[in-house]
Amino acid sequence: MAFTTHTPKHVVPLVLVLQLTFLLMSTSFAQLSVSFYSNTCPKLLSVIRSGVQSAITKEARIGASLLRLHFHDCFVNGCDGSILLDDTATFRGEQTAPPNNRSVRGFDVIKAIKSNIEKVCPGVVSCADILTLAARDSVNILGGPTWEVKLGRRDSKTASFSAASSGIIPPPTSTLSNLINRFNVVGLSAKDMVALSGAHTIGQARCVTFRNRIYNESNIDVSFAKLRQRSCPRSGGDDNLAPLDFTTPKFFDNNYYKNLLNNKGLLHSDQVLHNGGSTDSLVQQYSQNDKTFDTDFVTAMIKMGDIQPLTGSQGEIRKVCNRPN
Ligand code: HEM
Ligand SMILES: *[C@@H]1O[C@H](CO)[C@@H](O)[C@H](O)[C@H]1NC(C)=O
Ligand SMILES: *[C@@H]1O[C@H](CO)[C@@H](O)[C@H](O)[C@H]1NC(C)=O
Repeated sequence: MAFTTHTPKHVVPLVLVLQLTFLLMSTSFAQLSVSFYSNTCPKLLSVIRSGVQSAITKEARIGASLLRLHFHDCFVNGCDGSILLDDTATFRGEQTAPPNNRSVRGFDVIKAIKSNIEKVCPGVVSCADILTLAARDSVNILGGPTWEVKLGRRDSKTASFSAASSGIIPPPTSTLSNLINRFNVVGLSAKDMVALSGAHTIGQARCVTFRNRIYNESNIDVSFAKLRQRSCPRSGGDDNLAPLDFTTPKFFDNNYYKNLLNNKGLLHSDQVLHNGGSTDSLVQQYSQNDKTFDTDFVTAMIKMGDIQPLTGSQGEIRKVCNRPN
């Protein structure tokens, strides 16, 4: 038998087999890493940055839309690109679930970026990672902080209408304790929740999401309520838009928190963060200190990007982002 001859010639293959086994094992429990594509797609970061930049030059709001898309992706079964999938014959996807229906946008930008990336490094980069990077670049291009993004997420082969509809993405009618609970379920703290809500320093919301607040609530500045009522009637105009931060909606800053101090939060779920409860002091802190907000926002974005990724040999690398291979 070959194995009875203990020459180095035979030991070497055995060592190789063992090493390979460990490599395979470790990749199936792989962690995300900032250098994941450094060898396989060195142009990745610049292709994404320029794709996001040109989209924002055309329309500043798209930066907000991309940021929100990443949030809604991560909360439903982890950051796996599932929100990008259209409905198929075998599953109903997430795009028409109540938190997303008629309000998520940015799919064309992701599609365009993905096709540019396929030209420089085909079959290598996941849609989940593209979306994570696009969210980071959006924040930075609109005047916010930047940070290193851990990569190596893989794409899901399916999406879940029912998970996206389950309330895991909290509705704008949420109480403070519901918001805290919803974030806790995915491993994010109350502090993370307050910092991430600062994303509402950019972008728009539809009348239907804040109508009750501007007509029925008492913890709202009267002139602010009147201003919003002008383009959001008691009935009709459900899709009419208003800025989430009425002062600087195209700029990523801490004005969102200053608005809350003045009872000028647009959504019910915004104002509950400063309404006599446990998060008042954080809102005050972020309103006074832009640097603290940036630091805590970045920390929380990295945590959100870590929610339940598919890694190693799980899932797949989609060829196009809106359907499984
Ligand atoms: C804390 C719980 C949250 C609630 C209840 C909430 C709710 C909402 C609602 C109702 C809208 C308007 C959607 C529409 O018009 O249909 C919105 C927009 C937005 N949300 Fe949130 N959100 C929350 C947290 C977050 C987080 C964590 C992020 C990102 C880190 C985020 C980013 C955004 C952005 C950027 C927009 C504007 C999107 C655009 O203009 O296209 N939100 N949010
Ligand atoms: C999504 O919006 C469309 C158009 O308003 C509506 O017909 C449909 O019922 C909505 N779907 C869900 C699941 O709410
Ligand atoms: C105000 O509250 C009442 C009672 O809950 C409700 O019936 C009505 O639809 C609300 N008005 C608006 C504009 O949301």
